[in-house]
Amino acid sequence: MKKIMLVFGTRPEAIKMCPLVNELKKHNDRFEPIVCVTGQHRQMLDRVLDVFDIIPEYDLSIMKEEQTLFEVTAGILNKIKNILEEVRPNIVLVHGDTSTTFATALACFYMCIPVGHVEAGLRTYDVSSPFPEEFNRQAVGIIARYHFAPTEISKQNLINEGKKEDTIFVTGNTAIDALKTTIRDDYNHPELEWAKDSKLIILTAHRRESQGKSMHHMFKAIRRIIDEYDDVKVIYPIHMNPIVRKAAEEELGDCKRIHIIEPLDVVDFHNFLSRCYMILTDSGGIQEEAPALGKPVLVMRDTTERPEGIEAGTLRLVGTDEETIYMNFKLLLESKEEYDKMTNASNPYGDGTTCQKIISILDNSIKKREI
Ligand code: UD1
Ligand code: UDP
Repeated sequence: MKKIMLVFGTRPEAIKMCPLVNELKKHNDRFEPIVCVTGQHRQMLDRVLDVFDIIPEYDLSIMKEEQTLFEVTAGILNKIKNILEEVRPNIVLVHGDTSTTFATALACFYMCIPVGHVEAGLRTYDVSSPFPEEFNRQAVGIIARYHFAPTEISKQNLINEGKKEDTIFVTGNTAIDALKTTIRDDYNHPELEWAKDSKLIILTAHRRESQGKSMHHMFKAIRRIIDEYDDVKVIYPIHMNPIVRKAAEEELGDCKRIHIIEPLDVVDFHNFLSRCYMILTDSGGIQEEAPALGKPVLVMRDTTERPEGIEAGTLRLVGTDEETIYMNFKLLLESKEEYDKMTNASNPYGDGTTCQKIISILDNSIKKREI
């Protein structure tokens, strides 16, 4: 029996790792999945664990209000050592680019435990954007023995960096595995009822590098649109970060056609996405989900590590300048031609069988006595 430890700590990692945990559980003749959550997020993580019905074996519970990168990284490094010593996993699987991912991979490196990196090879090659995620994923890329790359583009990034080709596997993204289980034809919600005769915009914004001036610019641009267009309503399921909440309250708090609501459970959120007119976001994961749903996205960031959605035509990178966001938003409200160009559903991230592919790669590595 091989001990596969999956370590994650934030909402997006959980959404993309829980399907893998549940798939591994189906193969309990040879795999023992062991879940360790860092609790980098608390409430937002726990909601995902509930949805996927997963009870972690270990919980580092490190979250603090307005935590710094130092606290998160050091907290995980200090607490995970004993667990890794106790469990001695055959392999540790981490996901993406968070501080949880980086600190866990570093701990495994110190203890010579092999690491499998799910969602490997995404790059902007600008360590300041997204910050600190670009550094995190490049660093994990140095440590990982197996790179589960979602697309050929991410595989090529890894090859260009000199990673050995036989350590890189194009698997698609587990985001699509998750999405396949959440969308429902008969879904409804009071917030959707509120917005039903309007163009519904879904807004999310949370990135560290956006906080401060950039985030205020984003919100001001949206505010201008709302003031100009009576037929637009915005739903903003807001991140729990108090810094983000304060900025949103200051800029958008008094606007009746913007509903700032608590974070939605993933089933609700995916169904909101599938029913909206368009999306404004600085999120990473939403850039993977929206192309599959054919929903236009204005990506309010200076860079993206997800060029697949830009190529598919669903994403437009608009930066964080107020005027540019405003003009692009306005264009998609006024020009049917521009809007239609961005609504072709396409799915660059696989067919929802990424978890199965990762498991057969693990099977092969057992056969080759690598783990
Ligand atoms: C983290 C990740 C980012 C990812 C994002 C997903 C890093 C460096 N950043 O950023 O890559 O896009 O998660 O959302 O790993 N909070 C709560 N409850 C929660 C979650 C957060 O109260 O359930 C508050 C806390 O005050 C916390 C703050 O949000 O201190 C920030 O959380 P943190 O994980 O440090 O940063 P994120 O911006 O969420
Ligand atoms: N999401 C969610 N509820 C919400 C907002 C987002 O379940 O209220 C999901 C979304 O579908 C995606 C993930 O959370 O799968 C994205 O998380 P986030 O934007 O926090 O992080 P990022 O992807 O930028 O790292």
